[in-house]
Amino acid sequence: MKISRTFAAPSVAALLLAACGPAPSIQPDRVTPYRLANPSGMEVTLLNYGATIQSIKVPDREGKLSDVLLGFDSLDGYKGTHPYIGAIVGRYGNRIAKGRFTLNGVEYKLATNDKTNHLHGGLKGFDKVYWRAREIAPNAIEFTYVSADGEEGYPGTLTAKVTYTLTDSNELRIAYEAASDKDTVVNLTNHAYFNLTGSGDILKHELLLKADRFTPVDAGLIPTGELRPVAGTPFDFTTATPIGARIAAADDQLKLGGGYDHNFVLADTIRPEPVLAAQVYDPSSGRVLEVLTTEPGVQLYTGNFLDGSLKGKGGQAYARNAAFCLETQHFPDSPNQPAFPTVLLKGGSSYRSATIFKFSRR
Ligand code: GLA
Repeated sequence: MKISRTFAAPSVAALLLAACGPAPSIQPDRVTPYRLANPSGMEVTLLNYGATIQSIKVPDREGKLSDVLLGFDSLDGYKGTHPYIGAIVGRYGNRIAKGRFTLNGVEYKLATNDKTNHLHGGLKGFDKVYWRAREIAPNAIEFTYVSADGEEGYPGTLTAKVTYTLTDSNELRIAYEAASDKDTVVNLTNHAYFNLTGSGDILKHELLLKADRFTPVDAGLIPTGELRPVAGTPFDFTTATPIGARIAAADDQLKLGGGYDHNFVLADTIRPEPVLAAQVYDPSSGRVLEVLTTEPGVQLYTGNFLDGSLKGKGGQAYARNAAFCLETQHFPDSPNQPAFPTVLLKGGSSYRSATIFKFSRR
C-alpha cells in the first residue's frame, strides 16, 4: 500500500486530530501509516497497529537511502503472524517465568505463550492492538493505548503512551510513558529488527556494547539471577567486534540461545537521561546505529529463530541472523527477581523511559 501521509503537507484529518485530540470512544480499526522525514533525507514510517516502526530509511556512505528495518510492504502483513517485527512490546517486554508473579500478596497468572513462560505481553500483547495516533508536532507522533485491568492477566488499567520524534540530526527518539490505577508491572520496549546493509545477514556488523555483565539464562531463557562478567566470554562487546565473530563458539549460553538472545546489564537502575548503550557499524554500507537509553538493560537478539519461512519486504525470505535487535528494557523476569531493578509501577504514579536510535555514516 502506498504511504499517503507526509509531514511536508499535513492532511486535514491530521490537523483536526492535532487540534481536537483523540475521540476516546472510537477505536481505530485500520492500519494507517504515518511518515516522518527530515532535511537530511532520513525517513521513518510508523503504524498505529502495534505502534510499529515499519521502515527507517537512512543514507549509506555514498548517500544512497536504504531501509534498514525488517518488515512488510503490505500494511496488513503486520496483522499476520510474525515475531514482533518493529512493534512496541508490552505490558512486559521479554519473559516472566511460568507466567506468574506475586504482587502485594496476590499471585497473578499470565498467558504462557513461550513454552511454560510468558513472553512479550502474552497472546495479544501491545504489538497486536491498535493504538490511537496523534500528530503532536510536524516531526512527532504520539500513540496511546489503554490496556484494561486484567488484560493478559495483568492488574490495573494501564494507559501507555509512546511518542516517536524524528530529529534533524537523524535520531529517532522514543519516549515511553505509562500510568496505572493499581499497582502493576511494566516493561515497554520496541522490537525493531535492524540490518544496516538492507539485506543479507548481520554477522559482519561490528557491535560495541557498553555492558560489562550479562544475565545468563536457563533452558527456557529465564535469567538464573546471576550477573556474570562478560570479560573472557563471547559476550564481551566492550570493544567493537563483529556480531558473527564468536556466535558459533562452544559456549553453553550461546547454545541455549541459539546465538545471542541475552540481556546485557547497562546500569543498576533507570537513568534520568538516555546514555549510550550500543553502537553498531556496518563496514559494507558505512551506516552506524547508536542506541542510547535510560533503561538498565538491553536484549541482544540475533534473529536466531528466523528460518527463512517468513517473507518480508520485497519478498525477502528472512533467514537466521538476517537482523539484530537491541531491545532496551528492564531485565527479563524482574517481577520474580527481587535483586533486579524493579519493574513495579505503583497505582497513581507514572512510568517513563526513553530510547534513541541515532544514525550516522563513516
Ligand atoms: C526476543 C526474545 C527472543 C524471541 C524474540 C522474538 O528477542 O528474547 O527469544 O522470542 O524476541 O522471536
